[in-house]
Amino acid sequence: MLYSTLKALHVLSLIVWIGGMVFSQFFLRPAVAQLEPALRIRLMHDVLGRFFQAVLAASLLTLVTGVWMLGRVAKQVVQGGGSFEMPLFWTIMAVLGVAMVAIFGHIRFVLYKRLGRAVAAAEWSVGAALLTQIRTWISINLGLGVLVLLVTLLRWPV
Ligand code: HEM
Repeated sequence: MLYSTLKALHVLSLIVWIGGMVFSQFFLRPAVAQLEPALRIRLMHDVLGRFFQAVLAASLLTLVTGVWMLGRVAKQVVQGGGSFEMPLFWTIMAVLGVAMVAIFGHIRFVLYKRLGRAVAAAEWSVGAALLTQIRTWISINLGLGVLVLLVTLLRWPV
């Protein structure tokens, strides 16, 4: 029961994180592209601020539940007298998952912070450049997330 609960939390967190990235890249950004810079950048700053708060919780929950599940499986195998060998697709999930959290950290604590300063100083060209960088890193994280989902759900390579 605990294992299933951890897995449910793991997947629900990923739905918030990956679903939010899809929404922001494919629906929100194109819709606000025609707004004048000051309005667009202020709006994106506000929306991303709210989204990143949710992602902070979701990414930490993904990490904690993932490591917890790994630990439980490893402990059970070792207690049963076996030696724990992690399937390759779990290793890929864990390594790329940690990379995704690190990329999110860069987006939230470096780029988004700078965006906040640009908005406060009404430096719209700086803000626009930062939004482009944030968009690029979100695309990379979305690509990694989809790759990890495919690897995990197809259970390949074993
Ligand atoms: C942050 C490091 C991560 C660790 C340590 C980790 C670890 C785990 C573990 C141990 C499981 C249980 C697997 C099983 O019972 O078969 C699991 C399930 C799962 N993980 Fe992760 N994970 C991490 C990140 C991610 C990421 C970033 C994604 C997707 C983008 C992801 C997607 C999934 C999915 C879809 C499942 C359910 C698989 C199934 O039951 O078929 N995980 N994870």
